[in-house]
Amino acid sequence: MKYDAQDCELVEKYQLTPTIYDFRLRNPALAALTKPGQFVQVLVPSKTLRRPISVCDVEGDVIRLVFEVRGEGTALMAQTRVGETVNIIAPLGHGFTLHPNEKTIFIGGGIGVPPMLYSAKQCGSNAIVINGFRHKEAVILEEDFRQAAGRVIITTDDGSYGIHGFVTQPLAEVIEGADRICACGPTPMLRNIAKMAQQYGVPCEVSLEQRMACGVGACLGCAVAVKDGDRVVYRHVCKDGPVFSSEAVAWDGEKPQPPAVKKEG
Ligand SMILES: Cc1cc2nc3c(=O)[nH]c(=O)nc-3n(C[C@H](O)[C@H](O)[C@H](O)COP(=O)(O)OP(=O)(O)OC[C@H]3O[C@@H](n4cnc5c(N)ncnc54)[C@H](O)[C@@H]3O)c2cc1C
Ligand code: FES
Repeated sequence: MKYDAQDCELVEKYQLTPTIYDFRLRNPALAALTKPGQFVQVLVPSKTLRRPISVCDVEGDVIRLVFEVRGEGTALMAQTRVGETVNIIAPLGHGFTLHPNEKTIFIGGGIGVPPMLYSAKQCGSNAIVINGFRHKEAVILEEDFRQAAGRVIITTDDGSYGIHGFVTQPLAEVIEGADRICACGPTPMLRNIAKMAQQYGVPCEVSLEQRMACGVGACLGCAVAVKDGDRVVYRHVCKDGPVFSSEAVAWDGEKPQPPAVKKEG
């Protein structure tokens, strides 16, 4: 498959918290192709490697990216001004399996919250959203989710807003009878969600984060161990993911067996 880099105009830009930015990029062709759970690779001035950012939403011609400034690359991205061009490769990866008529629980943790917006929108009133944050000041996109989904539950680790505790607490109350769970966030959160989904027999998909280089399956930079039947194998987060079935993820650190070496003589 050929991946083209394309220019998008930054048509709107908002600062959601001291470190989180909301970019609206106009590119009708890419917007039309983009599916929930996919990501884009953003070209950063003076950096060789592009930075992967999930698609938060698509509205008409516009792709929305919400990102946190973590290091030099995202700090440079945040300096882009409205009217300037952002070069992206998109859409990349495989997104979530979604059926609009199914009761689907969407769970986001911290900066894993943005990709759940476009995903939850697909299920509308059948979507139950549980978004977890460290504290009240970190809460983002609450009004967007309230407009997109049937029900929205917010949790904070310190109890300063919404339910005091982790996302798994309200999940225990809504999981029974759910058709599907989609989640994105820190690995310990995803691991606990996967465990609950297995206990209740609810199909669950998780979006994994891994440091990336090429973003298109060419460099082996983003390998993750997953189960394939009885075997553990490496897959690319960029090409085979970022969304995987929670049952396939090697949560306990299992690694693929090295190939057997034949003894000479
Ligand atoms: C598929 C995918 C989707 C993503 N979607 C989003 C998103 O929607 N919003 C968002 O804010 N961020 C997202 N990220 C993370 C984002 O790509 C990194 O924060 C960014 O590349 C950091 O670049 P930097 O130059 O600012 O930081 P660097 O200087 O490269 O690193 C700064 C710090 O961030 C950590 N870091 C860097 N890259 C990653 C990574 N890929 N995963 C975990 N930690 C990392 C480093 O270990 C280091 O501690 C996503 C990552 C992936 C793989
Ligand atoms: S980032 Fe190069 S193979 Fe995934």
